[in-house]
Amino acid sequence: MIRFQTIPRLALGMGMTCLALNAAQAGEMTTQTPSVEKQRFGQLPDGRKVEAYHLRNGHGIDMTVITYGGIITSLRTPDAQGNVDDIVLGFDSLEGYRSDAYRQSNPYFGALIGRYGNRIAEGRFMLDGTTYELATNDGPHHLHGGDKGFDKRLWQAHSFENDTGVGVELRYTSEDGEEGYPGRLDTRVTYTLTADDEVIIDYHATTDKATPVNLTQHSYFNLAGEGSGSIVDHRLMLNADAFTPVDDTLIPTGELRDVAGTPFDFRDATPIGARIGEENTQLVYGQGYDHNFVLVRDDASAGELVTAARVVAPQSGRVLEIATTEPGIQFYSGNFLDGTLIGKGGDAYEKRSGFALETQHFPDSPNQAGFPSTILAPGETYESRTVWRFSTQRDDNAS
Ligand code: BGC
Repeated sequence: MIRFQTIPRLALGMGMTCLALNAAQAGEMTTQTPSVEKQRFGQLPDGRKVEAYHLRNGHGIDMTVITYGGIITSLRTPDAQGNVDDIVLGFDSLEGYRSDAYRQSNPYFGALIGRYGNRIAEGRFMLDGTTYELATNDGPHHLHGGDKGFDKRLWQAHSFENDTGVGVELRYTSEDGEEGYPGRLDTRVTYTLTADDEVIIDYHATTDKATPVNLTQHSYFNLAGEGSGSIVDHRLMLNADAFTPVDDTLIPTGELRDVAGTPFDFRDATPIGARIGEENTQLVYGQGYDHNFVLVRDDASAGELVTAARVVAPQSGRVLEIATTEPGIQFYSGNFLDGTLIGKGGDAYEKRSGFALETQHFPDSPNQAGFPSTILAPGETYESRTVWRFSTQRDDNAS
C-alpha cells in the first residue's frame, strides 16, 4: 500500500511536496499571487447564466471551472521547460458542451459525475425491498447518472481563498426521483487549487432516503497538452493488484481479478500503449482500457488518502499523481473518442487523445453484493476526497 505523502504543516492530507521550479517559473512566481476571478461563460436556453471561475495558484498553475456540470474547462500547468499548456480536453464555450455532436458521443469532458459514476446494469437495482428503475443511457445500462446527470446541471457556486489555496464550492440538490433515484440528495463539491500545485476535490452529500451515491470527476488529461495527439506514450503506474473484469457491455462480472501476468498490471510504470493492442478479451470488450482497478489499501487506511496513480508524459516531463480516499479508480484510455469533436485549440479529439482516471467505488455496486457498498442512508454523510498533484521531471525514462 502506498500512503500519499503529506508534509506536516498541512497534516490533513492537503499539502504535498512542491515541484522544483526552473527560472521561468520562479520568475512567474514573483509576479503572481493566488487569485480567483468570476466571469460570465454563457447562458442556458431557459435564461439561467453560467459562470466561469478562474483560479490561479500564484505558482504557474491555473484552472477554470464552470457552474454548468462543475466542468473543469481548462487546467494549465508548466512542463519541465517552464512552457505552460492546457492539459485537459474541452471547449472554451458553453455551446461546445451542449452541441448535438457532443451529446451524441457523450464523453463527459471535465465534468462532475453523479449521482452514480460508472454503470448500473440495466438501470435497475433493489434497495430495502423496492426495485428502482433508472434512466438507461448506455445501451441497456445506466451510465454516469443518466440522461441528465450532475454533469448537465447548473450548480450554485461561490469562490473562496483560505490557507490551503483558492477554490470554488459548488452545490446541487438532486430531487427525489431524479433520473429514477430515491431521495433528495444535497451535494457539495469543492475544488481547491493549492500553492503546492495540487487540485483537491472534496465531495460531500446527505440524503433523506437511502440511495446509491458514487461521485467522481471526469477530466481527460493529455500531459503533452490537449490536442497534441495520442496519450499512448504516457507512462502509467496504478497502485492496484486487482481489477474488476467486465462482460461485453462493460458491466463487472463480480470477480476481482489479479493483474499479475496481464496487460492490466501497471504496478510498475508502463506506457499506456505497450500492451493495449494485445489479444485479450478484456481489452477487446473495452476497445482498450476501460476498467475499474482495485486500489491497494489495508484496513487501517480505509477512508484515508492513498496514492492511486502516477502518470508521466515523456516529452513534456509533466507528472500527475492521484491520491484518493476511494477504493477504486476507472482507467479509461479514451477509446471512444473518434475525431468528431473539435477541441478548444482547434484540434480534433481523436481516439486516445486523452485519458481519464476516475476515482470511485466500483461499477454496478448496487447489484454486486461482494463490492463495497455505495448506499448512503439518511443521517449519514458521504465524504470523499481526491487529490491531483502536478510536478515535472526531466528524465524521460524515469518512472
Ligand atoms: C466510461 C467509458 C465511457 C466514458 C464516456 C468512462 O467513464 O468508463 O466507458 O465511454 O466514460 O462516457
